[in-house]
Amino acid sequence: MKIEDYLETLPSNLLSGEDVQLPEKSFREIFKFVKLDESDIFYHLGCSNEKGIEIAINEFKVRKAVGIDNNQEKIKQAEKVFANTKAEFRCQNIEESDISDASVILFWFTNETVRNQMLEKFERLKPGTKIITIWGPLPDCLPDEVNFPYIINKTPFRKTQNMQDQLLAIFGVKCVDFITAWEFAERYTKSLGSPEIKNDRFLTIIQTLIIWINAKKLGVACGDKIPESIQTYINIMKMHFDIDFEHLLNEE
Ligand SMILES: C[S@@+](CC[C@H](N)C(=O)[O-])C[C@H]1O[C@@H](n2cnc3c(N)ncnc32)[C@H](O)[C@@H]1O
Repeated sequence: MKIEDYLETLPSNLLSGEDVQLPEKSFREIFKFVKLDESDIFYHLGCSNEKGIEIAINEFKVRKAVGIDNNQEKIKQAEKVFANTKAEFRCQNIEESDISDASVILFWFTNETVRNQMLEKFERLKPGTKIITIWGPLPDCLPDEVNFPYIINKTPFRKTQNMQDQLLAIFGVKCVDFITAWEFAERYTKSLGSPEIKNDRFLTIIQTLIIWINAKKLGVACGDKIPESIQTYINIMKMHFDIDFEHLLNEE
């Protein structure tokens, strides 16, 4: 079975991220990293529920916190669970919502169109506004601070078309080898997974292979050869789990 076919067997609302909720510990890590405090006006874009807003107000004492989600049910529920004078929940598309008073924004979207549209909107925000993204920076931007998988992008953004510059800023390396791919796959799984996650080694292997293969396709893998460890894991996935990665290496 090709890896794409295996992924198809997982629930689509989870794969798209639509119903994926950040664990509470991730919110706390993110807020500490961005040094959220009482001077901040915090926005959580695509908030799903009240958790991020609640932690920002109760534990980090922000001046105001706004959660935006275009799902009416989710917003109704969030308002019901956390009523607070400093909290505001909006049922709106983030592309249309007024976020001009924000000082810190949490933005975890993988959809390319949304990311490009929002980049234009973020570029118009006042200087020094921090946008936290997860896994990668805003399109064609160099991150300002990295605590992988959390990334701070600060206005005005520093633009780059150069993949190597982005790699260096995010991973601290000029090219991706097996160790880099594994280390960052593991950090990602550990940061966003629940503490009692059972299949984390399995996820880390899949994620490592995907990172390395993508790096290879983008021309930023170290050396020309497939590293021995990558080949071994490709063979293990095929032999023991019937999940095939080999064809991805042959695609142009
Ligand atoms: C954690 S966010 C991020 C999801 C995104 N698909 C991803 O993985 O990058 C998920 C939430 O965003 C909401 N959402 C999706 N598109 C939106 C939009 N254009 N405006 C506001 N909320 C949106 C969904 O209702 C969901 O509750």
